[in-house]
Amino acid sequence: MPALVVVGAQWGDEGKGKIVHFLGEGADWVVRYQGGDNAGHTVVFDGQSYALHLLPSGILQPGVKNIIGSGVVVNPSALAEEVAALESRGVRVRGRLFLSLAAHVILPYHIHLDVLREAGGRGLGTTKKGIGPCYEDKVARIGVRVADYLDRAALRSLVRQALAVRAAELAKVKPLQAIEAEVFDGYEERRRLLARFAADTGPLLDRALRAGKRVLLESAQGSMLDLDHGTYPFVTSSNPVAGGACVGAGVGPTVITGVMGVTKAYTTRVGRGPFPTEIPGALAGRIREIGKEYGVTTGRARRIGWLDVPQLRAAARMSGLTCLAMTKLDTLSGVGPIKICVGYRLDGRLLRDFPVSRRAQREVRPVYRSFPGFSGDLGRVRSLSDLPRAAREYVFSVERLLGVPVAVVSVGQSREQTIVRDAAGIWGRRHSI
Ligand code: GDP
Ligand code: IMO
Ligand code: MG
Repeated sequence: MPALVVVGAQWGDEGKGKIVHFLGEGADWVVRYQGGDNAGHTVVFDGQSYALHLLPSGILQPGVKNIIGSGVVVNPSALAEEVAALESRGVRVRGRLFLSLAAHVILPYHIHLDVLREAGGRGLGTTKKGIGPCYEDKVARIGVRVADYLDRAALRSLVRQALAVRAAELAKVKPLQAIEAEVFDGYEERRRLLARFAADTGPLLDRALRAGKRVLLESAQGSMLDLDHGTYPFVTSSNPVAGGACVGAGVGPTVITGVMGVTKAYTTRVGRGPFPTEIPGALAGRIREIGKEYGVTTGRARRIGWLDVPQLRAAARMSGLTCLAMTKLDTLSGVGPIKICVGYRLDGRLLRDFPVSRRAQREVRPVYRSFPGFSGDLGRVRSLSDLPRAAREYVFSVERLLGVPVAVVSVGQSREQTIVRDAAGIWGRRHSI
């Protein structure tokens, strides 16, 4: 019954899609447990590139069954598009995708609200996919779940109730009647699509675990975008941390056998918010171009920074990481001396931990340790011992600084460009360095 949570250890886009797809070869089930189509997970194999938003990255492994858990917020139109795009490329989705009847549905008015708030000057730089407003309705207990969406009469009455609550804000967009009409425009087609996949996923997953199947629980976003533990308010509206996997998949913490944190060899962030190790100027531009650091969902240029140990240590603590996957080591090749932040300075004091307050998160100044750079085409390397010495030392330094072993090193987009240090240990026992 091994169940491995794969969580983003930074601000998202760490390469979770690649890693989950890679590990998916040895898995039976992959479960997405939070977020929605704000996510963009790129998977490259056999020379083809796929961008997944809502679907678990296991969908590209023919033998794997996939669950969209109750913690995910689902835009039916986005799901329809993604399923159609995959099916048109020969990926079989039917019979391999199960959508929780308890997942909340993103409706057109959630997107209106997201766009409206982003336009108001106080925007957080969201993806404008309606994620925050949908989770708000869930918490306010005026949301629409997949089970409700399948029942036209129930949907009508729930939508009217929600629109009444949000009327003042939505009136700035268009008349409420027009907004209600948008929900039902082309509804039947979307209803059929959801009905095709809808299932009571809790017992399904429970049976799989009891039968000893291997389950991967895939996060969207990353630890620092976590609603409770991230750089609030510049966060998403769900809990990417490993605890969120239990809530969003509907399993107890006792079934989890391992938690892998995915981190880049450096750091990126999209959207506004504190980013202590952000690199200014030309060097950031260079890393952005080498690493093709542009968002999969919005196309925005990602902000670039050095690796941040207090930040990663916080991620390790919040999710109880048992191992790390380090991606994009190849991108640092030729960049020159590499820095790692090992602490911060604030008001003349030295901080070891990532701070909680907004002011501190904004004003801390990183204390860096420098590491020798390396060069050469790391994309061809298939074992740790063939890495340039300085690159290998960099990996070892990170695990020593964090106290979490690096089990996987990724040196390129495609699945062959993956170095596994300890295949057996990934799924379960705690590694020792
Ligand atoms: P996710 O949201 O965590 O799944 O990550 P994204 O897919 O948004 O962004 C990661 C990007 O880096 C994708 O384009 C991946 O194909 C790419 N990628 C993943 N691992 C590596 C790696 O080791 N080297 C390089 N060069 N690219 C990688
Ligand atoms: P993946 O799964 C990176 C960011 C947005 C914004 C904040 C809130 O590909 O790693 P939201 O639309 O969720 O309300 O936006 O969160 N964000 C992401 N950044 N990767 C993601 O997903 C993200 N999903 C949301 O840029 O700053
Ligand atoms: Mg992404």
